[in-house]
Amino acid sequence: MKRDFLAVTDFSKSEISETFEIAKKLKADVKAQRPHHYFAGESMAMIFAKPSTRTRISFETGMFQFGGHALYLGPNDIGIGKREAVKDIARVVSRYNNWIMARLFEHKHILELAEYATVPVINGLTDYNHPCQIMADMLTITEHHGQVEGQKIVFIGDGNNVCNSFLNFASVVPYHFVLAAPEGYDPDPTTLERARKAGLSEIEIVRDPIEAVKNADVLYTDVWTSMGQEDERNKRLTDFAKFQINNELLSYAKSDALVMHCLPAHYGEEITDEVLNGPNSVVFDEAENRMHAQKAIQVMLAKSMGKEIDI
Ligand code: CP
Ligand code: NVA
Repeated sequence: MKRDFLAVTDFSKSEISETFEIAKKLKADVKAQRPHHYFAGESMAMIFAKPSTRTRISFETGMFQFGGHALYLGPNDIGIGKREAVKDIARVVSRYNNWIMARLFEHKHILELAEYATVPVINGLTDYNHPCQIMADMLTITEHHGQVEGQKIVFIGDGNNVCNSFLNFASVVPYHFVLAAPEGYDPDPTTLERARKAGLSEIEIVRDPIEAVKNADVLYTDVWTSMGQEDERNKRLTDFAKFQINNELLSYAKSDALVMHCLPAHYGEEITDEVLNGPNSVVFDEAENRMHAQKAIQVMLAKSMGKEIDI
């Protein structure tokens, strides 16, 4: 049976811990220039319906480091769900490639892709979630603060796809998650309810960013206008005006609070230049960790499908 990674909740708590341990080993190998060709001769089809810097480069480079190859299929190449049915693309691509990674608009399309593909499908972001991002973020938090459990992580901004993945993580690993968002920008209600019902993590939604960040271990933000929402940009600039991470807001958090952003950043909107490039920022560690975390996810999927990998 093939296994996919479409949401953080596809992994158990112990699998998440194992993923982080594997990611750290893979990262050490890369730093020491030790080759690890665990997927020699394998190929990954990367289907992008939206633009990308980190996701494309990290998966493509990761496959190269594994001794394999990745194909970039951009928004004008496949036209998923438009030029060709999702279920047909899933079956065709599975005949050529060992892996599929996809960044799509509609979440139901990645579910369909996974249903019909006969090879593992990894979610590189949909309108609903961004699980690889959160795995990289939580890996970064463990590197800097030792662990995620017990951390107070405050997400300031839109209850968007990245926020939904924080909630999914909270369904599996206990921590304190606070969303500081204006009315009307709450996360997916089903995801919020599931995370609360899991009963593991403390989860709050507050309207005052200053109250939210008091005693925070991590301040996290993302763009106010996600890909596909460009028509709402002006309204969002007004609605989120009080939700910027700047030095004043940072001063209310713990002095060693990490500042995180999945990138791309819109300087002067959700975050200031001085904070993103200031002493608390771990934004570029986070970007680097996309690659190590995703490679570890691949190793986890392959191992659980019976491949022997000595790591
Ligand atoms: N954070 C992230 O997913 O970046 P890209 O959109 O550039 O891939
Ligand atoms: N929420 C953002 C994340 C980009 C990595 C978007 O969907 O555009």
